Amino acid sequence: MPPAKDAEEAAVPWRPPPFEAIKAEQKAPLILAGHFARTSVETATSSGGDGGSTDSGGDDGGSGVEVPEAARRGWGRRYTRREMEEATAGLAAANVMGEGGYGVVYKGVLRDGTAVAVKNLHNNRGQAEKDFRKEVETIGRVRHKNLVSLLGYCSEGACRMLVYQYMENSNLDRWLHHDDSEISPLTWDIRMRILLGTAKGLAYLHEGLEPKIVHRDIKSGNILLDRQWSAKVSDFGLAKLLCSERPFVTTRVMGTFGYVAPEYAKTGMLNERSDVYSFGVLVMEVITGRTPVDYTRPADEVNLVEWLKRMVAERRVEEVLDPRLPEPPPPPKALKRVVLAALRCVDPEGGQRPTMAHVVHMLEDDQIQRDEFKLARDLSPRESDSYERERGG
Ligand SMILES: Nc1ncnc2c1ncn2[C@@H]1O[C@H](COP(=O)(O)OP(=O)(O)OP(=O)(O)O)[C@@H](O)[C@H]1O
Ligand SMILES: [Mg+2]
Repeated sequence: MPPAKDAEEAAVPWRPPPFEAIKAEQKAPLILAGHFARTSVETATSSGGDGGSTDSGGDDGGSGVEVPEAARRGWGRRYTRREMEEATAGLAAANVMGEGGYGVVYKGVLRDGTAVAVKNLHNNRGQAEKDFRKEVETIGRVRHKNLVSLLGYCSEGACRMLVYQYMENSNLDRWLHHDDSEISPLTWDIRMRILLGTAKGLAYLHEGLEPKIVHRDIKSGNILLDRQWSAKVSDFGLAKLLCSERPFVTTRVMGTFGYVAPEYAKTGMLNERSDVYSFGVLVMEVITGRTPVDYTRPADEVNLVEWLKRMVAERRVEEVLDPRLPEPPPPPKALKRVVLAALRCVDPEGGQRPTMAHVVHMLEDDQIQRDEFKLARDLSPRESDSYERERGG
């Protein structure tokens, strides 16, 4: 499994774990349907007390922030509507963090002081209690330090709510596109760590679970950020389980304009390579600070993927960097490597795209080089100059 600490991550590149190891690590979050009605204390006992999950010991990407009480207890707590109202001051408008395709999200605080995000699902009439539980079970058993943890749910009458761990730094879309400061707080290093974390979260969904999960709506708004800017992929509301025996599942087209893979948009044929495409678009967005589609730009720059391809073909990669990126800019070779990885992800042929595990390797190689560079700079600033020159910086 991915190591729990950032320091370890830098030293030991992550490799896909053996399947037995994944199974063993999944044991704690698994909860049987019959456990849902139990009290929190009973659930705590049945789920192994400390959660024991893949993200235990650092759900923050190894940043050492304490795991909230509710998260430690494991998932699967069933909350009453009253508890949810208490937590959100009666679903007060002041606590609304935003509204997506699936409902309104409120900030809340549980009785034990745990900060949470409560997603009040729209359109819940007609969804049978049993179906809802099944979906929740799927979401809740998935635990990884780069995936937002589901702590529990509320299902009372027509009310359906999902309770997630709260992410202090909101989402990546906000920092890339809705932040007024002249210089972005997202340094190159932070951006690359966010991408690596996202890639690891996705690799886990695709290759660490059986059956695998295709996210279907990878976009900057669904990459949440904790206090340490670690990436947590959110929203499995769109994710549907894929049977491993069947390579494709045909389903209605979902996802967000600008991120959707061409084959998925055209035919509704879906597999995990569609997420790889969306991830490639995300990488481009993070590097350039541009949205995937931007009609305020000249016609030949509206589509981010097409524009970036052209800039690469014209050998103008250095010009694509987000103008709000703080100093120092990345060494040109590092920039090129990440741009090329993104281009591979958006290959029009799904089969030609790398797997997410492969993407993790590509981004990790880059991180190792950045860490070496930092070390060289710390040891001797003059040596780091020659190091940077060698690396093409
Ligand atoms: N766990 C969380 N912690 C902090 N903020 C959250 C959390 N979950 C969601 N949010 C915030 O709530 C707002 C609404 O999220 P929501 O997922 O409903 O919408 P979206 O991501 O814009 O659209 P979509 O429905 O396509 O995912 C966003 O600003 C998001 O950052
Ligand atoms: Mg969302």
